[in-house]
Amino acid sequence: MQLGAYLLDRRKKIDRALDRFLPKESAKPATIHKAMRYSLFAGGKRLRPILCLAAAEACGGTVERAMPLACAVECIHTYSLVHDDLPSMDNDDFRRGRPTSHKIFGEGIAVLAGDGLLTIAFEILSRAEPTRRYPMNALLLELAVAAGSRKLIAGQVADLEAERQKASRAMLRYIHENKTAAMLTASVRVGAMSANAKTSELGAISDFGEALGLAFQVIDDILDVTQTSEKLGKSAGKDVAAQKATYPAVIGLVASRREAQRLTARAHAALEPLAGRANRLRELANYLLERDY
Ligand code: IPE
Ligand code: IPE
Ligand code: MG
Ligand code: MG
Ligand code: MG
Repeated sequence: MQLGAYLLDRRKKIDRALDRFLPKESAKPATIHKAMRYSLFAGGKRLRPILCLAAAEACGGTVERAMPLACAVECIHTYSLVHDDLPSMDNDDFRRGRPTSHKIFGEGIAVLAGDGLLTIAFEILSRAEPTRRYPMNALLLELAVAAGSRKLIAGQVADLEAERQKASRAMLRYIHENKTAAMLTASVRVGAMSANAKTSELGAISDFGEALGLAFQVIDDILDVTQTSEKLGKSAGKDVAAQKATYPAVIGLVASRREAQRLTARAHAALEPLAGRANRLRELANYLLERDY
């Protein structure tokens, strides 16, 4: 299948599964379920769940078996965006082509919608079928650690604290490893776990996820400078305005692009042990590097 058709197919499958896992809009209290669905079904690219499913397949697993994990990952990611946009954090008005959650529902409900999405991720995770090598507690630990205060949240803390500061490359790397690469790595790792991956396969998938996750945030930083808000579906130019610590700000655009290329090459190299089975993951890595939104 061509990449375009493949992405469309996966997005549809993921959206159908998410729709089944989420309480209906009318479920009481309707406000919170409306708000959770508003952000979840706003048209995200679904890259993390797509990568989760592709990692499962690369390790000999199936889309069906990986799907609850893919959906759990997307719920955590969407929660992180809802909170990232809050006035007390990045103060963004526009996300996934729509006004941000707090603009529509108010800050209180937006905070709670984020809480709801984070929590339901673990309810959805509990529906995954564990495998011989990876029992439920391994899956639970994986997502809890990646989303927790030593990873995703640690990165978000450092990101806030680095505003208006002169950031070193080491600090930038720390921010990216934690706020973005940790969840991206967990996405592909739980996919591989759903396939009962051998230790060597899981190692390859982890190295791939780390490099790809770092590349992903460098590109996000570049797009913030080079693209329009319309194209991105979120407000562009915000990083300079907020004096964020980003790759373009610290090393410039040209060197940032080179860094993203270098990290993508590292992601490719990590997949060598998986040979031809990882071709879709290779294609996805290239797509993420070339993306313009
Ligand atoms: C945006 O992620 C936040 C980052 C970690 C850079 P995406 O670019 O994957 O956003 P959606 O899910 O498509 O909205
Ligand atoms: C967001 O980084 C990372 C997380 C949400 C964890 P950014 O603040 O750069 O993401 P955007 O640009 O608002 O999507
Ligand atoms: Mg942010
Ligand atoms: Mg932001
Ligand atoms: Mg950004």
